[in-house]
Amino acid sequence: MRVERDDERTGGVTALATMIRQPPAAWHQPVMGAEAVQLLAPKPGAVIADGTVGAGGHSLMIVPHLLPQGHLIAVDRDREALDLARKRLTEFTPQITFVHGNYRDLHALLDELKIGGLDGLLLDLGMSSMQVDRPDRGFSFSKDGPLDMRMDDEQEETAESLVNELPAEELARLLDELGEERFARRIAQRIVQARHSRPIRTTAELVRLIAQAVPASARHGRLHVATRTFQALRMAVNDELGALASLLERLPRLLKPGGRAVILAFHSLEDRLVKRAFAQGVREGWWTVLTKKPVPPSAAECSANPRARSAKLRAIERR
Ligand SMILES: C[S@@+](CC[C@H](N)C(=O)[O-])C[C@H]1O[C@@H](n2cnc3c(N)ncnc32)[C@H](O)[C@@H]1O
Repeated sequence: MRVERDDERTGGVTALATMIRQPPAAWHQPVMGAEAVQLLAPKPGAVIADGTVGAGGHSLMIVPHLLPQGHLIAVDRDREALDLARKRLTEFTPQITFVHGNYRDLHALLDELKIGGLDGLLLDLGMSSMQVDRPDRGFSFSKDGPLDMRMDDEQEETAESLVNELPAEELARLLDELGEERFARRIAQRIVQARHSRPIRTTAELVRLIAQAVPASARHGRLHVATRTFQALRMAVNDELGALASLLERLPRLLKPGGRAVILAFHSLEDRLVKRAFAQGVREGWWTVLTKKPVPPSAAECSANPRARSAKLRAIERR
């Protein structure tokens, strides 16, 4: 993890300038912002970590509650997101420590910052609309770009390396487990066949191969034919379930007594990890669960922001 000083400006300057010039509606809209803040219950003087600060939408709703003495630790693996968050949160700079890193390392960061425990932790999982909207990041199946999908550009493994190097069996398993893709085996076989002639380098090439692999009847369903494959690759490239599982394991020690954790999941495997860890923590006497059932977004939010539709919010309070 790398704690950044206020005067640092890293990478993606042109892209950042473009994003900041865009109207706020083009930025990532915070999903279930009101519900998340209500459950997090930030108070003056509290120390809260936003482990997935993204464009800073949730953080902007949290920081005013911490004034005048409180502190926000704003973490993101994505340098561009962090730069954007820093700009949007500029009026609260004295209250915030920005960190380029993985929330799975939050325990080490708290040690480094000499913070004994958090009053609150927010995780808003998955990718942001800024990531998906940028063709050069390779997250989108509807825009041609390099097969990248890394949230953190310091990482070596990309979607291109997985697609071109994984054995067919492993590729099929990944698409099946992380993407719940019915045609995982067929897609993996088509990819392996194609990469014999030349490496697969772009999102458009991969979309073409997926469309060729599935039966014609599956090409025009409700979901784009490449949705599940792209989701699986993104989750694998960024080890999203691994990061969540390690954080959940350390959660009892990250929170102070009375501290709260609020987690927004968008994928059934993520939500299952959260649900199980929260239930186990109850059995072990670490916390009480504040959400008996996962809280869904309102119908109004779902129609205003389609990305919210699959959100599930769960929260606990440390004993
Ligand atoms: C859904 S967006 C967050 C949006 C943010 N809540 C907002 O309102 O603007 C998720 C963000 O989490 C980041 N992210 C995902 N996994 C991460 C991890 N393990 N550690 C740190 N950041 C992560 C992504 O780079 C992305 O910027």
